[in-house]
Amino acid sequence: MTGGTPFYITTPIYYVNDAPHIGHAYTTVACDVLARFMRLDGRRVKFLTGTDEHGQKVAKSAREAGIDPQEFCDRVSQNFRDMTRLMNISNDDFIRTTEARHLRSCQALWQVLVERGEIYLGTFAGWYSVRDEAFYEDGELVNGKAPTGAEVEWVEEENYFFRLSAWQDRLLAFYDANPDFIAPRSRRNEVVSFVKGGLRDLSVSRTSFSWGIPVPDDPKHVMYVWLDALNNYQTAVDYPDIKSEEYSTFWPADLHMVGKDIIRFHTVYWPAFLMAAGLAPPKRVFAHGWWTVEGQKMSKSLGNFIPPARLVEAYGVDAVRYFMLRELPFGSDGDFSHRAVLGRINGDLANGLGNLAQRVLSMINRNCAGRVPQPAALTAADEALLATARGLLPRLRAEFAEQAFHRGLEAVWQVVGEADRYVDEQAPWVLAKSDRERMATVLYTLAETIRHIAILVQPVMPDAAGRLLDQLALGPEARDFASLAARPLVPGTLLPKPVGVFPRHIEEREGKGG
Ligand code: MSP
Repeated sequence: MTGGTPFYITTPIYYVNDAPHIGHAYTTVACDVLARFMRLDGRRVKFLTGTDEHGQKVAKSAREAGIDPQEFCDRVSQNFRDMTRLMNISNDDFIRTTEARHLRSCQALWQVLVERGEIYLGTFAGWYSVRDEAFYEDGELVNGKAPTGAEVEWVEEENYFFRLSAWQDRLLAFYDANPDFIAPRSRRNEVVSFVKGGLRDLSVSRTSFSWGIPVPDDPKHVMYVWLDALNNYQTAVDYPDIKSEEYSTFWPADLHMVGKDIIRFHTVYWPAFLMAAGLAPPKRVFAHGWWTVEGQKMSKSLGNFIPPARLVEAYGVDAVRYFMLRELPFGSDGDFSHRAVLGRINGDLANGLGNLAQRVLSMINRNCAGRVPQPAALTAADEALLATARGLLPRLRAEFAEQAFHRGLEAVWQVVGEADRYVDEQAPWVLAKSDRERMATVLYTLAETIRHIAILVQPVMPDAAGRLLDQLALGPEARDFASLAARPLVPGTLLPKPVGVFPRHIEEREGKGG
């Protein structure tokens, strides 16, 4: 797709010190849903994900694994690439910070910052947490640890500094002028008060290890891993070639999706680096919440990290994607439990949309010779149901523009509920004996409603929605959002034999809980 207003969306790049887990899958799926939604809505989308491969944390993991850091990164990065395939992710690029394009991009950014007088050489003395890859001051420590609970070590070394302190007022002015830059609102308030509290210059290089991008003209320094990592978003659109087609089309990014733990890096350091380099900051950063598992924090010591592959194997990829976005208000924390997933699969999918589609399509198959029925004049009840279905696109656009996936999906399932009530009221199985013309109108109205729903849930459940659209005999040209109004079902079209799309999940160990 080449036309349409550009939309550039990114996931954080994942540290390669760990295997992928549901926290990573969550961010990536949320971005994928938006990317697919925007493509179907006619936008020209660029969707980026990738891996963050430099820094002390990764170097330490490689050492522990007893292999060369590059080889270690190659191996773990591949696991994240595999996760994108597993979760049916439609990313357009996968960046690795050890690639040559990224080295060039970071060194160019560094040089611009130096030329503009934003970086100077000094001495750092303070605390560093390898787990957080972040510096802390004495006053920030809580019982000798980072506020995040991570271990810290004392660091005293010659470092380059970025003049972050000089950006306090300009950052506050930027937040003021761009009220939607940080979402949700609670996070915005948190960041604003942090910046109001005063900013110190930031150490942006290290000399005590070498696994990073060398500082131009002073290669005993490597760049601070967050400067390197954040700049991945520009590398992927061809920075430093700011006159390139990619950069001029896609920069500034429309949305950086991140977890709540890394909001400060994205909303304080990143816009400051960019403004200091004379470049535009991204348009929006959304911080989502964190998952616990069966009520507990995921941790190495508890060994309760859930690999996404295990979920997909148990429930299927579409159900997992749906669950992730429907279960929690996007932005809040929540719990991933087997019981909750089953509730959504059996309730919303099997008994809800699945049952509705199966009922309607089988009635059409039985009573209309398997062809899209020919409607007669519509009654107020028919018009009312169709109006709710037609109202979904504007509603979803509004909700997804705010990343309120849960509200968008709730609205879709309200229409499923309306359709269920309509079937019960209209009782087409009774009309089959008494009034065939009216039956055809009712079934047409229902099939049109299902068509709307199936087109609109494609971003969340691409496979299942695709199978529903197959059953309505709709080709690829009839599946984008423009088709909603432009291509209603054509009476007389032969439909394939209906098959269930959302099976009930039967508990293997029924009665034993789970
Ligand atoms: N490498 C940095 C990001 C650099 S972006 C320029 C990083 N990587 S990470 O692998 O540690 O985390 C990536 C994302 O996963 C973060 O957005 C984080 O919030 C998210 N999650 C990690 N655990 C999570 C949960 N338990 N639940 C939800 N998301 C979680 O940070």
